[in-house]
Amino acid sequence: MELKGFPQTISLREGSTVTVRPTTRGDEQALLAFYRELPQEDRLFLKDDVTTESWAERFIQRIERGEAISLMAEQNGTVLAEATLYRPRHGWSTHVGELRVAVACGHRRKGVAAGLLRLLVRLATDQGVEKIVVEVVENQVAARRVFGKLGFQQEAVLRGHVKDTRGIRRDLLILVNDSSHIWAAIEAMLADSIPGAG
Ligand SMILES: CC(C)(COP(=O)(O)OP(=O)(O)OC[C@H]1O[C@@H](n2cnc3c(N)ncnc32)[C@H](O)[C@@H]1OP(=O)(O)O)[C@@H](O)C(=O)NCCC(=O)NCCS
Repeated sequence: MELKGFPQTISLREGSTVTVRPTTRGDEQALLAFYRELPQEDRLFLKDDVTTESWAERFIQRIERGEAISLMAEQNGTVLAEATLYRPRHGWSTHVGELRVAVACGHRRKGVAAGLLRLLVRLATDQGVEKIVVEVVENQVAARRVFGKLGFQQEAVLRGHVKDTRGIRRDLLILVNDSSHIWAAIEAMLADSIPGAG
């Protein structure tokens, strides 16, 4: 599905900007380079092993099938963040989307995740997604803070559900929000941190 209105520019806290565009076939190597650069302690708790060619191919196929919308943020041709909304195309949960986001270490706390999530939630809402779910591992403190600030509530804990790449079992937290409720929170968060971002 072609996403209209891109590329877009988002302003960051320190005055710089990033360009945001949908991820498409041909971005596999840029995406892999981005994920391979993430610190190992972050990759430990990502749902997929995002460093393999086979993951990149499956990911692009899901985008092509309309099961995922992915946005990449770039600066000077380098990917510095990626966010995805997964959405079932069939069955009883087509109104539910699952969000994931990752930002390069050197670009955190500048509003990149908030800016990407804002664009993604708007696309999700336009496509009929009413409820948004985020799965975070208990130790993903930054992610819990970001989504907590966006009004996500913990709806379930699956004990020992995640085995990280070192084989250690961790609790998985299921955070949930209605997409209509996220709007005001995102706008407030961006207005707080980036003057003129609203
Ligand atoms: C979670 C993550 C995506 C946040 O990205 P980011 O671009 O740094 O987030 P933002 O700058 O948009 O932060 C928005 C707000 O969230 C909160 N926040 C973000 N990171 C935080 C941290 N490490 N500690 C406390 N609060 C934090 C803050 O309230 C922040 O606003 P502020 O900086 O004005 O106080 C990033 O830390 C990351 O990539 N982590 C590893 C991957 C991961 O855990 N992904 C989530 C899986 S779904």
